[in-house]
Amino acid sequence: MYLSRFLSLHTLWVTVSSVMQHYPSVWGHYDVCKTQIYTEEGKVWDYMACQPEARDMIKYVKVTLDPPDITCGDPPETFCAMGNPYMCNNECDASTQELAHPPELMFDLEGRHPSTFWQSTTWKDYPKPLHVNITLSWNKTIELTDNIVITFESGRPDQMILEKSLDYGRTWQPYQYYATDCLDAFHMDPKSVRDLSQHTVLEIICTEEYSTGYMTNSKIIHFEIKDRFAFFAGPRLHNMASLYGQLDTTKKLRDFFTITDLRIRLLRPATGEIYVDEQHLARYFYAISDIRVFGRCKCNLHATGCKEENKRLLCECEHNTTGPDCGKCKKNYQGRPWSPGSYLPIPKGTANICIPSISSIGNPPKFDRIWPNISSLEVSKPNQDCECFGHSNRCSYIELLNTVICVSCKHNTRGQHCELCRLGYFRNASAELDDENVCIDCYCNPFGSVHDRCNDRGFCECKEGTSGPKCDKCLPGYIWHSLGCQPNVCDNELLHCQNGGTCINNVRCQCPPAYTGILCEKLRCEREPGGCGRSSAPRGPGGLRPLLPLLPALLAARAR
Ligand SMILES: *[C@@H]1O[C@H](CO)[C@@H](O)[C@H](O)[C@H]1NC(C)=O
Ligand SMILES: *[C@@H]1O[C@H](CO)[C@@H](O)[C@H](O)[C@H]1NC(C)=O
Ligand SMILES: *[C@@H]1O[C@H](CO)[C@@H](O)[C@H](O)[C@H]1NC(C)=O
Ligand SMILES: *[C@@H]1O[C@H](CO)[C@@H](O)[C@H](O)[C@H]1NC(C)=O
Ligand SMILES: *[C@@H]1O[C@H](CO)[C@@H](O)[C@H](O)[C@H]1NC(C)=O
Repeated sequence: MYLSRFLSLHTLWVTVSSVMQHYPSVWGHYDVCKTQIYTEEGKVWDYMACQPEARDMIKYVKVTLDPPDITCGDPPETFCAMGNPYMCNNECDASTQELAHPPELMFDLEGRHPSTFWQSTTWKDYPKPLHVNITLSWNKTIELTDNIVITFESGRPDQMILEKSLDYGRTWQPYQYYATDCLDAFHMDPKSVRDLSQHTVLEIICTEEYSTGYMTNSKIIHFEIKDRFAFFAGPRLHNMASLYGQLDTTKKLRDFFTITDLRIRLLRPATGEIYVDEQHLARYFYAISDIRVFGRCKCNLHATGCKEENKRLLCECEHNTTGPDCGKCKKNYQGRPWSPGSYLPIPKGTANICIPSISSIGNPPKFDRIWPNISSLEVSKPNQDCECFGHSNRCSYIELLNTVICVSCKHNTRGQHCELCRLGYFRNASAELDDENVCIDCYCNPFGSVHDRCNDRGFCECKEGTSGPKCDKCLPGYIWHSLGCQPNVCDNELLHCQNGGTCINNVRCQCPPAYTGILCEKLRCEREPGGCGRSSAPRGPGGLRPLLPLLPALLAARAR
């Protein structure tokens, strides 16, 4: 078995490497989601892991500048050539198209002469630092497939940080530091990507490679995606299968190449010299003519298409998945927890499609179980990710069982994947499994119910004499007390008060003065010392003594 696997991997190796010449537009075999195959049962679909093609992501970006008024030209100003402080005949004027340098010009087509560019105001407030943030937002998770390239029109900045966000701009992490002097600017030793290895590939470095001032001809800054890929796929990226394998099994590596936003933090413009020439501050500014970002929509290997809708990229999810990143199973397809597709085994991967939920209609599942017995479902690959339907983000690995379980499930859920409702809660049939309201409190009446659990429709188990979904109503013949339903003491049908007594609220008989007993069945004199030896029943103010103080004891006796 091992041998045959090895052979098939080997064959595939050859196929992959021959296709990989065209990197980055082709990533192998993951550009289809299914094919028809013939089996004993006839024609069926065979599902595969799939992903959208890599493309120019700049078309879909939203840009924000901070400070917002940092673009030059309002009011119009004159600036000097970087290399020649006496050549100050350049003008920036936002109100004149030919002289304006708005941010859009970073994203238009280049290749023209002269090229078009965005430009900041000059460093007229020196020594106050000239700081600018350029934030690029996609509102979509993207996997980078090629170097990020930024082309500066004037000199490349003396200090800059490239940052990334994975959560739509809520939190930011540095991606790379750039400086003419890393130690001085960021207290970091200068490094180049080539100093890294497979084991240190996730290290955040400061590079001096791209900040050599205006004297060199190069205007370009890279964030080196391909050099990092090469640690796994070889210098010419000929062994992409190996990279896939690593991406599949190492979430940190996958996340490293994944972004929702980028931020270019410009911290100090090119000065070209050690000292800032305070006489000619109009020499110092930032100007960017082009930004290139290549990547693909992250669809968790569940889509080949990614379309633009309302100015936003959305995966065209297959495998019965849904969400902007195909990050969950469709309604009625939650027969097992969602999981991303896998590149393995190469070349077709594992689709991990969402399967139909097991319907509870007509065949109600057992008490408070909101999920079919997961261990009885076949899962194609042991999924070591933490999948808790959004009710927890902490898992723990149980080595003995080689399985991962969610810990601290919230929203009243429990279970290995937080897929069950806690005792005392039941599944909200109209809510998705990842809905915060998926588990509803049973609200069983504590006095009327046997315990606090209910069935999958919210019905509690009632004590004798009690009814209603929540066990808060009494059956005929019973009456509600502070402690639940108790049998009637008297009524007008079977439990008549005798000897002319009157039934009060079903809880007691009001007896004529001569009678006593629960149903006024006894002569009062029978209870008195001396018995009924006297001629007639005594009369007096005590005759109408209510029965109520005796009631708990009576009821307890009746209930037995
Ligand atoms: C730029 O963004 C960083 C956080 O990423 C923030 O600390 C800094 O204040 C911002 N600078 C400007 C000029 O907005
Ligand atoms: C991002 O996309 C979501 C969902 O489509 C939308 O509600 C939200 O307004 C978008 N945010 C921005 C800043 O465009
Ligand atoms: C859902 O999955 C089933 C296979 O389980 C497939 O036949 C069906 O076409 C899928 N539906 C969609 C909308 O993808
Ligand atoms: C789940 O199914 C397996 C196999 O059918 C069975 O052994 C196990 O007891 C079941 N677990 C629960 C909690 O029902
Ligand atoms: C059940 O879930 C639906 C959909 O989320 C929600 O609108 C409804 O309020 C929930 N019902 C209860 C009783 O919580």
